[in-house]
Amino acid sequence: MFEKILDEFSTPFYLYHEETIIAKSKLLKNLNLNFSHKFHFAVKANPNLAILNLLHRQDFGAEVVSAGELFKSLKAGIEPSQIIFDGPGKTEFDLKYAITQQIKSINVENLEELNFINEYSLSKGLKTSIGLRLNPNIDADTLEKITTGKSGGKFGISEDQINFDKILEMNGLQLSTLSVHIGSQIVDHQKLIQSYEYLILLADQLNKKNHSIINLDFGGGFGVIDNSDETLDFDQWKKELEKLLKNKKYHIIFEPGRFIVADSGELLTKVLYIKKSGNRTIIITDASFSEYIRPALYDIKPPIQTLNNSNELKSYDVAGGICESTDYLAKNINLPEVKVGDYLKFTNVGAYGSSMSSTYNSRPRPLEVLMGKNEYRVIRSRDTLEDLCKNEIM
Ligand SMILES: Cc1ncc(COP(=O)(O)O)c(C=O)c1O
Repeated sequence: MFEKILDEFSTPFYLYHEETIIAKSKLLKNLNLNFSHKFHFAVKANPNLAILNLLHRQDFGAEVVSAGELFKSLKAGIEPSQIIFDGPGKTEFDLKYAITQQIKSINVENLEELNFINEYSLSKGLKTSIGLRLNPNIDADTLEKITTGKSGGKFGISEDQINFDKILEMNGLQLSTLSVHIGSQIVDHQKLIQSYEYLILLADQLNKKNHSIINLDFGGGFGVIDNSDETLDFDQWKKELEKLLKNKKYHIIFEPGRFIVADSGELLTKVLYIKKSGNRTIIITDASFSEYIRPALYDIKPPIQTLNNSNELKSYDVAGGICESTDYLAKNINLPEVKVGDYLKFTNVGAYGSSMSSTYNSRPRPLEVLMGKNEYRVIRSRDTLEDLCKNEIM
C-alpha cells in the first residue's frame, strides 16, 4: 500500500499510521491505573480533524490552547465536558468562547484571567469551572526550549502570588482543578512524579481551607525522543504515582500529545538537487522548514530513511528550498548514497510536524494521508495556489 500512496501523491506529504495511534492510546489505557483518570489529547501536537476524531473514538478528551483548537475538538465530536483549555496568552475571544461552551476546565495562567472569567460568567448567569496552572519551579531535564516548569519562565503562576481566599469569593468561578506541565519529551519519570507530588500537597492544603479541588491535571510530556529508543519507564512511573495517590480521591487528568502521535507520522519528500558547497554535500529536498520546522527550531536530529537500495554511507546536510540560512532539516548525517529524484522519509514526525507547518515563502501547506490496515485516505488536501490568496484583499 505504501508504494501505491507514494505513486499517487506528490511530495512533500505527511503519512500517518492509524494502527500506531491506536496502539499508543491502548498502551496508556492498558496501564490500568488504579485511580480515576482521563487522557486528554494535547491538540497542538496534531490538530487534524481525522486524528482528533480517531482519538475521540479511543475515549480521549482534548487539551486545547486556542479558540481554534476548541472549535476543532468540538467539531471532531469531543464533548465540552471533556475539554481542558490551557495557555499563557488566552485572548478575550478565547475565554468568552470557552466560558460559553462550559468546558471541563479553563486553566488560568495569569491572575488577570480570574477577574475576566468571573465577570463574564456572572454577566451570562454562569459559574465556570477553572483550574490554576502552577509553576512548581522544577527543571524537567529536557531540551531547554521545551522546559516549562521553571521559575523565570512564562508558564503558570507561582503559588505565592495567588490569593486563594479571594477566589472563594468569586461567584462566577468554581476552582476545581490544579494543574502542572513541566515540559515535553521527559524521560526521567522522577521529574514528573516530583511535579505531581507538589500538586497533591497543595490541593490537600487548599481542601483543608474550604476549597473543593477535585481534579489534578498532571499535564503531558511523556517522552518520545528523536533518534532514540529512550522512553519513559511507565512501570516505575505507575508504581510511584499509585503510591502518591493511595487513599486520595482526586480525578487525574493527563494531557499527552507527542507520545500518542509522534511515531505514527512520516514526512515523505523528494530530492530535488544535490550540491557541493565547500566540504559539504547538501541534499535539497522539496520539504523545507515550512513543512517541518522542528530541526531548525530545536536543533533536533530527525530520523531519516532513504528508500533506495544503496549500501554506501555518505555524509550529508539536508536543506529545504526556503530563502533562509536556517532552513535545514538535518546536518551532518550519514545516509546511503542519495541521487536526485530519490525519496527521503522523515520518521517520528506525527507530533508538532504538520501542526507547526506554515505557508512561508507562499508554499502550500502539505497534504496529509491517514493509512489504516487495509485502506488509506486523504485527511487534509494540499493548499491550492488560490488558497494562498483566500483571505487577502487586493
Ligand atoms: C499544558 C500542556 N499540556 C500538554 C502538552 C503536551 O505535551 P507533550 O506533547 O509533550 O505530551 C503541552 C505541550 O506543550 C502543554 O503545554
